[in-house]
Amino acid sequence: MERPESDSVDDGVTDLSFADAEARSARLEEELRTSPAAHRMLTGDRPTGPLHLGHYFGTLRNRVRLQNLGVQMFVLVADYQTITDRDSPQSLPEDVDALLADYLAVGIDPAHTTVFAHSQVAALNQLLLPFLSLVSVAELKRNPTVKDETAAAGQAAMSGLMFTYPVHQAADILFCKGTVVPVGKDQLPHLEVARVVARRFNRRYSPRRRYFPEPAALLSEAPVLLGTDGQKMSKSRNNAIALSATADDTACLISRAKTDSERHITYDPVNRPDVSNLVLLAALCMDREPESVAEEVGADGAAALKRLVTEAVNESFREVRKRRADLIGDRAQLRRILRAGNERASGIADATLADVKHLMHTEYGDG
Ligand code: TRP
Repeated sequence: MERPESDSVDDGVTDLSFADAEARSARLEEELRTSPAAHRMLTGDRPTGPLHLGHYFGTLRNRVRLQNLGVQMFVLVADYQTITDRDSPQSLPEDVDALLADYLAVGIDPAHTTVFAHSQVAALNQLLLPFLSLVSVAELKRNPTVKDETAAAGQAAMSGLMFTYPVHQAADILFCKGTVVPVGKDQLPHLEVARVVARRFNRRYSPRRRYFPEPAALLSEAPVLLGTDGQKMSKSRNNAIALSATADDTACLISRAKTDSERHITYDPVNRPDVSNLVLLAALCMDREPESVAEEVGADGAAALKRLVTEAVNESFREVRKRRADLIGDRAQLRRILRAGNERASGIADATLADVKHLMHTEYGDG
């Protein structure tokens, strides 16, 4: 029997080709330069502790760049996501404040960027229900990032929220009709869920006029910074230099960083990952090429390299750290900024939910 043209929830149109995502990302980058105001960027972070230099060079700096280009900006504090894999939310208020302080200190400007927490935007969360009806369990089970995260969290049983959080993430993106989502490669499967949800919603409920735009990933070209132990820089591995670290903390962490036994410093990420990572960090801070930094240190060896890196980090983050200290000292102000962002996001989410109800023929309770 021929397969009917259907709006089935698993229509096999999921497309996880990295090459396609890369091509879309390149086109998007071009459009952002020519018509930034036509695009809406949405991205965010889980409030699980202070952000570090990996976040800064990997994504924060790019957000500020997009903000300054004139893209419409939404930055999300993904507080509900923190309960996918941990059960103690006691530290959330401080973690949220710390995240806000990090954002503002690096130059995310609430006058141009809506910063909000998704738990505070009721209508956003309500989109989860219709969206869940648009994806199949088989599709959710295939998501490699959810599998990895579940394994990393070391939990015996996967919660329903963990299983469905990519759909929640689709609501995060689509409530504001986001078109640009700056992500790393690991987030591509989630972005694909958001694309599929948008496509299937449109086909089922708004076939004549596309209601949700399909968001595209903006893949970052940012180099990956390793932690001081040579592993991925991560809040939980104790190998990260936080944005908020003091100059002394920074010196201490860098002095403990792994190097190798060869004295002459070179930039060779494949064969000398630890030394090259330090060279890269200094180069990023000084806005120079890593090869030229390595050459400058050369025969002076690892101790000289560490001195250079420490100075480069402390020098280039001095202002950011000072701003951050001032910000964290005024929590009432941080909360006011978040409240204003939540209100703005809620206004948009309410309008989207009203449209969705209309398109789904479920407005009989209204008015
Ligand atoms: N999952 C992202 C992370 O772990 C955070 C996040 C939540 C997000 N919702 C999002 C990122 C929507 C991009 C778009 O960092």
